[in-house]
Amino acid sequence: MEKLHKPVLFEESLNYVVTDKSGIYFDATLGYGGHSEGILKRINKNGTVISTDVDKDAFNFSKEKFKNENRIKLYNFNFTQIDIITKIESINFFDGILADLGVSSFQLDNVEKGFTYRQEARLDLRMDRNKVVNASDVVNSFSEEDLADILFKFGEEKNSRKIAKEICNQRRNNKIETTSELSSIIKQVTPQRYYVKTLSRVFQALRIFVNDELNALEIFLKKSIELLKKNGVLVIISYHSLEDRIVKEFFKYEALDCICPKDYPVCKCDKESRLKILTKKPVVPSLKEIEQNIRARSAKLRAAERI
Ligand SMILES: C[S@@+](CC[C@H](N)C(=O)[O-])C[C@H]1O[C@@H](n2cnc3c(N)ncnc32)[C@H](O)[C@@H]1O
Repeated sequence: MEKLHKPVLFEESLNYVVTDKSGIYFDATLGYGGHSEGILKRINKNGTVISTDVDKDAFNFSKEKFKNENRIKLYNFNFTQIDIITKIESINFFDGILADLGVSSFQLDNVEKGFTYRQEARLDLRMDRNKVVNASDVVNSFSEEDLADILFKFGEEKNSRKIAKEICNQRRNNKIETTSELSSIIKQVTPQRYYVKTLSRVFQALRIFVNDELNALEIFLKKSIELLKKNGVLVIISYHSLEDRIVKEFFKYEALDCICPKDYPVCKCDKESRLKILTKKPVVPSLKEIEQNIRARSAKLRAAERI
């Protein structure tokens, strides 16, 4: 299983996030423990890593993987609960916080999770099985308008209205329960040359909606900045433009020390900058990394230091 997920931008992210060998680090997206393991290798016996993953299988896998490692504490919590985890651990601040967003290769390849449109699977897309609504519920019960909005907002799918209409037409006859049933509906209303890209956008949109990914990211960023020690670094690896935009805007806003209108002669706001941006442009994987791990191709890393 370990071989199935290669940590993305591994050295680059660790170079930014680990600033103190005895520090306390938070890995918000434990997955199969690749980045957490990298942090453990860089810290000394006084350092600590606290890692969480909302996916029970990822958590269980990593629990076994790190069973003989006493410098790591693992949680099966949403990363939006970073503040609760710090309270449980009686920690005030972290020296570094890392989030490698999205889904792992294992989740994508695991048929039971229904994350992939490449294999026949139940249409689910939940990372956290405790969430009440899955992708099948969305496509079978949401109104045509709401479906179209989800595809447009979270998949940036231009054909959202046409696809939503076809989904609603077809579900009148049969419930849409599998990835291939949804794929074949999309195929009927999509020109062949756009089919794969459209599929990818539709599945991305449903996944983001079902897991409430963008809201979770915003909550996490706001809480993280409060929990970073001075000079501590926040590192976020994102995989699509919607996530990257949120990170970029958040960093930009937190780096500003004035938000007064441009025509004010003197500053009247009490805005203070709380972050120094370390990556003017996002760091992207090398061609070599992409050749070895095609899933790294859309990754963008942004890092910022707490002032
Ligand atoms: C790209 S993988 C991380 C892989 C990990 N860095 C490694 O090296 O194995 C993303 C992980 O984040 C988890 N995840 C996504 N959103 C989450 C959230 N809101 N809270 C906690 N975990 C989340 C997913 O379940 C998945 O296991």
